[in-house]
Amino acid sequence: MRKYRVAWLPGDGVGPEVCRAARLVLDAAGFEAEYLHGDIGWEFWQKEGDALPQRTLDLLRSTDCAFFGAITSKPAKEAVRELAPELRDKGLSYRSPIVRMRQLLDLYICLRPCRAFPGNPLNYRENLDLVVFRENTEGMYIGVEFPKIPESFRAEPSMARLPADAAISIRSVTPGASRRIVEAAFEYAVKHGRSKVTAVHKANVLRATDGVFLEAAKEVAVRYPQIEFDTANVDAMGMWLIKNPQNYGVIVTTNLFGDILSDLCAQLIGGMGFAYSGNIGEKYAVFEPTHGSAPKYTGLDKVNPLASILAAKMMVEWLGEKEIAADIDQAVAAVIERGAVRTYDMGGSARGMEIARAVAASLRFAPVVR
Ligand code: IPM
Ligand code: MG
Repeated sequence: MRKYRVAWLPGDGVGPEVCRAARLVLDAAGFEAEYLHGDIGWEFWQKEGDALPQRTLDLLRSTDCAFFGAITSKPAKEAVRELAPELRDKGLSYRSPIVRMRQLLDLYICLRPCRAFPGNPLNYRENLDLVVFRENTEGMYIGVEFPKIPESFRAEPSMARLPADAAISIRSVTPGASRRIVEAAFEYAVKHGRSKVTAVHKANVLRATDGVFLEAAKEVAVRYPQIEFDTANVDAMGMWLIKNPQNYGVIVTTNLFGDILSDLCAQLIGGMGFAYSGNIGEKYAVFEPTHGSAPKYTGLDKVNPLASILAAKMMVEWLGEKEIAADIDQAVAAVIERGAVRTYDMGGSARGMEIARAVAASLRFAPVVR
């Protein structure tokens, strides 16, 4: 195996501890990499006014991929109050580093698998196997926002009707970005033997933007006649996913809807302790547990590290180390099925590192079990 270079970005809150758990499993599974630590998170916002410093972006550009833990983010005003005194008047505004990484590195696919592991007492239904493809670079996440309507906008008749103190967030959707995320969803369906792709939108109201998304989705779908193609409004989809989650396989949608629906899907299979993401572009990818930094649990080694361990599995799979990925996956499944060690969310009292050690001990091909 080639020795990979992995940017290691633990972040803050529970980020470092879930990263430690993932690292233990990666090492035990025989995955060989040089891990290069990158600064990211709240501390760097406070000290430097940048939660994703340039040196970290440079690190990302010099590595094969990155593994990211979690970071704290706070509302705009609070964020400015927490800056070092000398930075407070500089007009800095906080933007989520993960959202910035996705956009700056053009990691256009946010891939979020949600699979019900047999024996997980938290499964809402058994045998679910959903995958959300979330567009990761545009939509409501472009960061074009105005706390009040700029005067120059008021020339536009639809804007002139709005109250002067209305805040505005702008959503952009392009045919190109829509096409490539839908293509990624179909390619996944073909590769993984899935029979259906469902495109989720709100084109009856967001006519311009979701009109573009839906048209692009239809255009791509005709190139895959062997895969069933289905569309649904996002509100109805929220309901159907609760009612009949087994009817869905691959879901593809725009950025904000994907954010919301992927949390919903995560809850169907046990919650954030099992939800992991790949932010994937043409040549680079950042893997992460989907959960946040959970500040109240920081340092307690309490949160479920399986999301992070599964994110690590997805990383090695993306790098092409399929056997190691499969081994980690079966080890996670075995630990869940056995049920002897469980974190608090699963009704147990095991520490995160105990889970990681149990997963490591269940690896089949491990050269060394630490
Ligand atoms: C996610 C998170 C992020 C998002 C936050 C932390 C900015 O909720 O990855 O789903 O909204 O994308
Ligand atoms: Mg989210």
